Amino acid sequence: MNMVLLGPPGAGKGTQADMLIKAYGLLHISTGAMLREAVKEGGELGAEIETYMNSGELVPDDIVTKAVTERMNKPDAADGVILDGYPRTRIQAESLDKALREENKSLDTVLYFKTSEEVAVYRLSGRRVCEKCGKNYHVVNIPPRVENICDKCNVKLIQREDDSPETVKNRLAVYGKRTKDLIVYYNEKGLLNEVDGDVQAKKLFDEIDILLKKKGLIENDDSN
Ligand code: AP5
Repeated sequence: MNMVLLGPPGAGKGTQADMLIKAYGLLHISTGAMLREAVKEGGELGAEIETYMNSGELVPDDIVTKAVTERMNKPDAADGVILDGYPRTRIQAESLDKALREENKSLDTVLYFKTSEEVAVYRLSGRRVCEKCGKNYHVVNIPPRVENICDKCNVKLIQREDDSPETVKNRLAVYGKRTKDLIVYYNEKGLLNEVDGDVQAKKLFDEIDILLKKKGLIENDDSN
């Protein structure tokens, strides 16, 4: 199954992607995570990407699409992927259609996380991330077992550079200007499924699980 997670910053795409890969074993492709890795690697490209990310602007389509297409063509993507944060523009959506077509694959579904701005801002301001494994926490909603320490890696949690109030404001504006149109794009293709991004993470996962089973995209295991 190939699935796109669409929604504003802070909608919980990364959180649900983690839960979905645990449940269904698909490959998680997060463009945000890939780009953060590229920044860590440094060099001219890393520095260019960092400038866009830290101001909340989108990284140019060609850079992101090349990275995603290369990742999707690796053998471990053969059984399906969860695309988190990609596509984010019409050009990226068309590139994705083309890349899938060329591999005789298709997109099975798009989950659109409808989320209020107030909730998104609250979540991003309280988000903490493990620098080592990338796991997301929230100081109130999804806290680690020990304050400010990753449950898995036992290292300190950090606040993402682009979660500062000014950058969050711009990221939300950029989403409205450049990404929101994809709701119409995928609705016209009959692929869009709206879910309530404002609800608690486990509740949302259960909603998604029921939806995917109803659509026959994952097996309906009666023991659940
Ligand atoms: P990216 O890393 O993709 O960030 P984003 O899309 O802005 O999304 P976030 O990671 O901020 O939010 P999320 O929806 O994943 O929420 P999360 O689960 O973390 O992109 C970063 C930057 O990279 C972009 O600004 C851009 O510059 C660049 N970029 C990336 N992709 C690109 C592309 N395709 N093209 C061009 N540029 C690109 O949850 C947030 C918080 O809320 C967490 O603390 C979490 O614990 C908590 N939480 C989550 N769900 C719930 C819930 N249901 N209830 C309560 N709390 C919750």
